[in-house]
Amino acid sequence: MDKLRIVGGQRLQGAVTISGAKNAALPQIAASLLSAHPLELTNLPAVTDVDNMLAVVERHGAEVTRSAHGARIDTGAAVSKETSYDTVRRMRATMLVLAPLLARFGEARVSLPGGCAIGARPVDMHVKALATLGADIDIENGLIVASAPKGMNGARIVLGSPSVGATETAMMAATAARGETEILNAAREPEVADLAACLNAMGAHVEGAGTHRILIEGDRGWRPATHDIIPDRIEAGTYAVAAAITGGQLELTHARLEHLASVVQLLEAAGVSVWPGDRGLVVARDGPLRTVDITTEPYPGFPTDLQAQFMALMCCAEGASLLRETVFENRFMHVPELMRLGANITLQGTTALVRGGEPLKGAQVMATDLRASVCLVLAALVCDGETTINRIYHLDRGYEQLDRKLHLCGAEIERISA
Ligand code: EPZ
Repeated sequence: MDKLRIVGGQRLQGAVTISGAKNAALPQIAASLLSAHPLELTNLPAVTDVDNMLAVVERHGAEVTRSAHGARIDTGAAVSKETSYDTVRRMRATMLVLAPLLARFGEARVSLPGGCAIGARPVDMHVKALATLGADIDIENGLIVASAPKGMNGARIVLGSPSVGATETAMMAATAARGETEILNAAREPEVADLAACLNAMGAHVEGAGTHRILIEGDRGWRPATHDIIPDRIEAGTYAVAAAITGGQLELTHARLEHLASVVQLLEAAGVSVWPGDRGLVVARDGPLRTVDITTEPYPGFPTDLQAQFMALMCCAEGASLLRETVFENRFMHVPELMRLGANITLQGTTALVRGGEPLKGAQVMATDLRASVCLVLAALVCDGETTINRIYHLDRGYEQLDRKLHLCGAEIERISA
């Protein structure tokens, strides 16, 4: 397995091109199954999660034509068949094909995703949303078996909590249901709004995405469509921390300030400067880091997908900071590895107390999940000496050419192929 070798101590300077958002691309690839007309996606990030989701729709009979950062998906010959446990086990987001397959073919069989490194991650809200639209859902031998032979009917769906995936499942199913659907307590993430924009380009009628109340006028017919995917706010936030932690200055090309308001607010409280540049956001730090307390929340709150990265940053700020994780029940897998680098962190349930300011020292560490892995890369950029990060396939799932992008900004980083 490939590994990364990083020697700390370089201040990062330069520009980083932010790629398309993985978490916008995945539901949109799934949504292509709703329609028999082709869907062209541009600004796709070159990450393995996207490769895997395209392979999933291919296994359902779609014809996929790839370009560097794009894909044309023709699902004219798509079929409904079981989406296996092996497929879903490797990527939870595969769950997102359930609603499109059910809407298109009147039936779908998708394996339950099971847990993953960051928690149990049930799918009860996905299932409940489909049942509210009139689908019959059974769980048999680890499979979700959904059927709606007479189609689905628009309804009012009230989500128990603003789940991103459940909102996307409800939205996609509702576009094919007869009549109007109202989704209340919907997730407001930009990736949900981007999925709605993609569905509308395909012929759907979705209003209010990005707010807690989404209205869908269903069953309007489909047409060929092209959609350009929004930039990845989590990748942008990650490189913002890279600039902050090394005391450098980076311009994050294509990054959108409006998607990062809560992140920018915390960066500025920590002593980091952020301002609009010619091509995106500029992030710089030349004074001391200050400690800040962080609580992760659904959008527009501080994103759970940046919690690990900010923990690495707080390890370098003199004093104590509290990081509270409210979205997932086990998203501190990076803590033991950070402690191997000399970080002083105490865990109590869903809260981590970081006592920062001591210098970190390079060591061998292990990547565990996507965001925990990149947290270790950020810490390694400021460690004394050399750090080796193993199992970096986790990084390749969601970060396009991370080592190359960092190297171009002055990091001493090398990918070692096994
Ligand atoms: C999406 O996951 C993202 N993934 C995650 O990014 C992100 O961390 C998460 O939203 C929160 O923002 C994609 O978009 C592909 P949720 P999702 O449904 O949809 C519970 C990354 O690193 N829940 O909003 O799975 C669930 O267990 C990934 O890029 C239920 O209880 O997240 C979790 O505790 C990691 N029942 C909470 O809600 C359900 O039916 C939030 O989950 C669904 C979810």
